[in-house]
Amino acid sequence: MREHSPQDNLELLRRVPLFSVLEPTQLELLARVVIRKTVAKGRSVFSAGEMSQSLYLILSGRTKVQMSDAEGKEVILAVLGSGEFFGEMALIDDQPRSATVVTLETCEFLTMNKEDFRNCLASNTEMATLIMRGLVKRLREADRKIESLALLDVYGRVARVLLEFSEVEGDRRVLRDKLPRQDVAKMIGASREMVSRVMKGLETDGFIVAQPDGSFVLHENRSAHY
Ligand code: CMP
Repeated sequence: MREHSPQDNLELLRRVPLFSVLEPTQLELLARVVIRKTVAKGRSVFSAGEMSQSLYLILSGRTKVQMSDAEGKEVILAVLGSGEFFGEMALIDDQPRSATVVTLETCEFLTMNKEDFRNCLASNTEMATLIMRGLVKRLREADRKIESLALLDVYGRVARVLLEFSEVEGDRRVLRDKLPRQDVAKMIGASREMVSRVMKGLETDGFIVAQPDGSFVLHENRSAHY
């Protein structure tokens, strides 16, 4: 495997929004200490409860953040993609990892150790603000999830997940992400069978229309109340 030089890293760091706010000298220092890591699809990056010490920034690929109980029952807290970071919580409060992170695809990460992360935060208010904005975004999403679990029925929860993962393309809203029903079930606290039944219901009601390429077109006017 090719080693990445500080110059390669510098060019990469300049393109990452989180680091682009750093001064040139800080960027150069950082370029010497960050490490690039590739993790194959379906691997655990770290597990809840571990005391690992790195921040991870996703350069490419997607990961899921999940928790599980002693019987192996899992809940997916979030799916994170390119440009997003994880692993900051344990670095901020010195507690064990709050959740397990697993790759959904082969992922390339940029990692930074605790000391370098803290130095960056201490010397750069803009970067500290970006990290805070990331935390606030997560809190808003977690609030929305609590609201869904408490106030929506399974039909509404599935519809909301489909909307969240879809994108507007021209005058249509399309779901291109391959979202296994098992994963949708783990996001909303339902069984896979229930999600399949609800998806069928959504299709029958004309809320989602399956396309030959495996994607779905979502009809927003029918989902406005989610
Ligand atoms: P840390 O606790 O170090 O390790 C697990 C990471 O998962 C955590 O830092 C966050 O980066 C991330 N994480 C935890 N909870 C959520 C959540 N609700 N949404 C998105 N990411 C999360």
